[in-house]
Amino acid sequence: MKRLTAAALIGTAFAAPAAAQEIKIGYALAEDSHYGVAAKAFEEAVTTALGDQFSFRHFPSSGLGGEREVVEGVQLGTVEMTIVSTGTLSNFVPEVGVFDVPFLFRSLDHARKVLDGEIGQEMLSRFDDAGLHALAWGEQGFRHITNNRGPIAAPADTAGLKIRTMENPVHIQAFQALGAAPTPMAWPEVIGALQQGAIDGQENPLSVIVSAKLSEVQKYLTLDGHVYSPALILVSPQLWDGLDDAQKAAFDSAARDAVAAMRGYVDQVEASGVETLKQQGMEVNALSEEQKAAFRDALAEPYKAYEAQFGKDLMDRIQAVE
Ligand code: PAF
Repeated sequence: MKRLTAAALIGTAFAAPAAAQEIKIGYALAEDSHYGVAAKAFEEAVTTALGDQFSFRHFPSSGLGGEREVVEGVQLGTVEMTIVSTGTLSNFVPEVGVFDVPFLFRSLDHARKVLDGEIGQEMLSRFDDAGLHALAWGEQGFRHITNNRGPIAAPADTAGLKIRTMENPVHIQAFQALGAAPTPMAWPEVIGALQQGAIDGQENPLSVIVSAKLSEVQKYLTLDGHVYSPALILVSPQLWDGLDDAQKAAFDSAARDAVAAMRGYVDQVEASGVETLKQQGMEVNALSEEQKAAFRDALAEPYKAYEAQFGKDLMDRIQAVE
């Protein structure tokens, strides 16, 4: 048997514990937003399951740049993890743009069933070919229009409206068809552009309008729910491929906890957000089903393009999910 020297024995007895692997997690919104609570829930679940194998460094409020830059960082492995909207993701996995089609989802419940079901899970697997690993679908809620020009009740009210959209071709096409002047812009520039009057409005779910305090820079909120806004929890392939099976299982389970926390936040803000925004001085109008139908009709042309791009079959399958 090989004899250990005294120095080796001491080295064994006092071996420093392996350093925790650092996970930098970047997201566009504040720590008390739906992204922040999800990131925290993820960290807590991983720490409970794996002890101090990993340490987390949070970069909220676009601390690592706009969503597109952060996703590129995740591809490169310079950022280990992010929670993002699908706004920019169709630039990486074009098929995912189908979830950004206006008026495709009927309700939060419908969207959650699609994303948790076969269609959503199949879409998650496509991210590996784009140099990203997708853990789970989260969400932001349904997007609504805010602006400083006036209330919107009909498509004609959006005529010439300089509205910031995400850098998302599906959304841009829809606002062009309505007659608005869509201005794609990375999120970190939006509040400044609204303050300076470079744009009249923007569109986002209540989760964002409330957590990003948009009532400080926007007067009118129109609850039109023109499109559902999914979010995704992504990790870098460099991180994922280096995990063992137990760690992968803990990450998958932590992602489910993060999604539950995110959806819980969205449910809460859907229930109380409008009241909060009214108290903060916003003027709010909610579109009736008839008024929404007028917006849907105005999107007939882009709808043909969406069906050609994503496949009518897939869009029908999504709408058929009960
Ligand atoms: O509007 C956007 O760009 C996104 O909804 C946001 C606010 C960055 C959250 O993902």
